[in-house]
Amino acid sequence: MRFAWIPPICRGCSDMKTSSSRSSWSSRWAFILVTIGSSVGLGNIWKFPYMTGSHGGSAFVLVYLLCVLLISWPLMMAEILIGRRGRGNPVSAMRSTARECGASSLWVLVGWAGALGALLILSFYGVVAGWIVDYLFKAFSGVRIETVQDAKQSFDALMNDPRQLILWQTLFMVFTVSVVARGVVSGIELANKIMMPGLFIILLCLVFWGALAGDMSAAAHFLFDIRFEAITPKVVLAAVGHAFFSLSIGMGAIMTYGSYLGKESNIATTSVWVAVSDTLIGLLAGLAIFSLTFRHGLAPAEGPGLILQTLPLAFSHMPGGGLFAALFFLLVSFAAWTSAISLLEPFVAWLVENRGVRRSLAAWGTGLAVWLLGMCVCLSFNVWSDFSLFGHTLFDALDGVTSRLLMPLSGIAIGVYVGWVMERKSVEDEMRLGSGAFSAWFAMLRYLAPVGIAFVFIHALNG
Ligand code: TRP
Repeated sequence: MRFAWIPPICRGCSDMKTSSSRSSWSSRWAFILVTIGSSVGLGNIWKFPYMTGSHGGSAFVLVYLLCVLLISWPLMMAEILIGRRGRGNPVSAMRSTARECGASSLWVLVGWAGALGALLILSFYGVVAGWIVDYLFKAFSGVRIETVQDAKQSFDALMNDPRQLILWQTLFMVFTVSVVARGVVSGIELANKIMMPGLFIILLCLVFWGALAGDMSAAAHFLFDIRFEAITPKVVLAAVGHAFFSLSIGMGAIMTYGSYLGKESNIATTSVWVAVSDTLIGLLAGLAIFSLTFRHGLAPAEGPGLILQTLPLAFSHMPGGGLFAALFFLLVSFAAWTSAISLLEPFVAWLVENRGVRRSLAAWGTGLAVWLLGMCVCLSFNVWSDFSLFGHTLFDALDGVTSRLLMPLSGIAIGVYVGWVMERKSVEDEMRLGSGAFSAWFAMLRYLAPVGIAFVFIHALNG
């Protein structure tokens, strides 16, 4: 099904009018798959392992798991609920649900923060995904990284070569835009149906190989030994932030995907699949990556270079390493691609639904703007390396504004909105939960999520 073009006369008129012509996923499973596609990304395979490595291993994992269970998952349900109830992109979903319960129209700002924040994330996400594509090509062309110096040199060479960085970022953005341009079912859903099974299969092969060729028990100790004393405020901060990022919370992506979900699907059981899969995939990737890292006596606390420097080094010293390196970077590329699609979709959906722009034009136009910002990020690593925004590099500024500012603020706003502002009756109607489960979820949304996030947020500002 394609989006119907909305005649100009309808522009800006009631958002609800467009709802009858909106696309929807072909089934509940399709929604689960695309939402897993959104949440499983560089966050799971690039960021989670290195953050775990640099924040004391199991202490970080434990706090992260609690944050997912108590904060991110309840908020994910709330986001799906708003999207489905409002039947629109984040801006119109917020507007129509606010209208329904007589709340201030200022709530629409949450929708705007989401749709625009997602584009800011995409601008640097596309650059990191570009590094991955570069390593994918290197792996396929048989480049071997034999020594620590090789690993460092090859990463530095990439970062200092603006043309390469821009080339890979461009390629990645073209791939992302071309999926979104094709529409909800024949673009986004189809791409996920192809890539996600591929991703699961490759991951299982890697874990299996990690168990055979790596040091799985050291990896398991590192990730799962309980060490309460290692839990510091810094670890908690990092874990909460990552629990948001990894489940794609607060930036309109889940809201938009939820708006294409049929009324008959149960939000709670549907979202469990997503939260559990995202977490499991992060942990499995962590096991595979650390079992190889430890097998070669390499340091886990490498920071962002973990999968780009340490891991290729580990691969090159193993039988079949070339093949598995190629598979690994293919896995990360798939994961990044399906996430990037979800970062582009909210704003594109707004252009299509509220401004009557043709989908392909909306996708390519938005993609172009994001690509330009991403190009500035590429240049900020080398040609413009003196450039700084309040003492931060452009990359850190974009990452900081989105994950430390916009995501927590939106998280608080969504918890307060569904917990306190929307009519309880409509929330109950959407959720269709037993009374005990509903009360537990509602309490997490009303109290735990806003207070917990606010606490962390204030700490982060002070730190
Ligand atoms: N969750 C993705 C990851 O782990 C990134 C992502 C996709 C995202 N869509 C998002 C993050 C929306 C925040 C909001 O890589």
